[in-house]
Amino acid sequence: METITRTKIADLLKSKSFGEKVNVKGWVRTRRGSKLVNFIALNDGSTIHNVQIVVDVEKLGEEYLKPVTTGACISVNGILVESQGKDQSVEIQATEVEIYGTADPQTYPLQKKGHSVEFLREIAHLRPRTNTFGAVFRIRHHMAMAIHRFFHERGFFYFHTPIITASDCEGAGQMFQVTTKNLYDLKKDEDGNIIYDDDFFGKQASLTVSGQLEGELAAMALGSIYTFGPTFRAENSNTPRHLAEFWMIEPEVAFNEIEENMQLAEDFIKYCLQWALDNCLDDIQFLNGARKLLYKSEDNDDLVERIKFILDNKFIRLAYTEGIKILEEAVAKGHKFEFPIFWGADLASEHERYLVEKHFKCPVILTDYPKEIKSFYMKQNEDGKTVRAMDVLFPKIGEIIGGSQREEDYDKLYKRAEEMDVPMKDIWWYLDTRRFGTAPHSGFGLGFERLLLFVTGMANIRDVIPFPRTPNNAEF
Ligand code: 4AD
Ligand code: MG
Repeated sequence: METITRTKIADLLKSKSFGEKVNVKGWVRTRRGSKLVNFIALNDGSTIHNVQIVVDVEKLGEEYLKPVTTGACISVNGILVESQGKDQSVEIQATEVEIYGTADPQTYPLQKKGHSVEFLREIAHLRPRTNTFGAVFRIRHHMAMAIHRFFHERGFFYFHTPIITASDCEGAGQMFQVTTKNLYDLKKDEDGNIIYDDDFFGKQASLTVSGQLEGELAAMALGSIYTFGPTFRAENSNTPRHLAEFWMIEPEVAFNEIEENMQLAEDFIKYCLQWALDNCLDDIQFLNGARKLLYKSEDNDDLVERIKFILDNKFIRLAYTEGIKILEEAVAKGHKFEFPIFWGADLASEHERYLVEKHFKCPVILTDYPKEIKSFYMKQNEDGKTVRAMDVLFPKIGEIIGGSQREEDYDKLYKRAEEMDVPMKDIWWYLDTRRFGTAPHSGFGLGFERLLLFVTGMANIRDVIPFPRTPNNAEF
């Protein structure tokens, strides 16, 4: 076969170099046609669109073309021509076809369209080859780029916090342990407690639930930083919005108070959504149709409209106490929630979505939560009851961001940590920031997959991460 430099299909479809010799490589989506002429729809992952390869069957040989079935990988040399069909701009008249790898139709699982999302999760090693998951993972890439650009443009530094840690940032006891100990032969003291001094780190270690504590240290030196990395939570909640391994973006800014923190969160989300419209429109439009079949979903809103709606509206800022009043009024008027609502209760997703979708019809930033339901590090308000927390609540999603102004006063922070049984020996270094040059500061964490749920319209968080980790599921 003649050596011609490969062109990606995304570039080819924009090309006007008709009559030129080109090479494309990719995976066969379909092959159809007659005894004389065949049409191969080829996709190489660079775009949702396929390029059509026109094949003279006699010239290339009917027998030779037999293994060119759905899923096979081929390299094609040919002439780029203007397409006659109305669905595509260009096509390739094949002169040579090399078969890299076949995919036996008897065993290749991606034969027909319309596989269920559940089935596709069982073949997560192949699902990126479907149009739907190709689109999702291209969008995932673009959103990661948007995040880095947003912060970089604003002078934030990307700071790497550890994945293995000995401190529990959120204090919710949902950590996965990291050990090299023989679990069948554990050294214990008289009370039966495990002794870790002979473990790899000489102490109990876990996978991080958040990079925030270390992020705060960095903000006290570099001013504005963000983290973007994997996060692990062993919460046994089998919901469409929870993963055991998810990615979180956590900016932390010295001198920002809660108002500036809220504005940063709103600007950040809007920047990412605008980026999605500017860079992923083809994929978003494809998913707009695909997801309805995939989930037999009742979500019939238009994805582009959904995104534009967020861009066009200022997020509502509302104190928790006011939010509870609205929810209590809803109950008084006959609205039924599964979980009880009262001042002091943690909001469930149904409550968050009521505020956002039914009451305000707009994203809401809920602030000043009761201190009992929030972490020890949040700045305490003068009322002695609430802390300067802020959760961003989104339509379809519920909580997409959790954050706060941080308690910068050493004594108050120490006392709160003590009250909440945070082991001081694990966070002495964190407390040190309040002893040496402390400053007001704020930050938040955005769940990357929750943002992706919103942008892609996918209904289950397992379908926006390549290899989901959930209870009883760590295949691939
Ligand atoms: O509200 P969370 O727990 O906040 C923190 O971890 C803070 N340390 C962040 C900070 O202030 N720097 O989590 C932040 C976000 C949530 O709003 C949600 O979007 C996402 O992380 N999240 C999850 N996403 C997927 N699966 C899970 N199990 C998640 N838990 C939280
Ligand atoms: Mg939260």
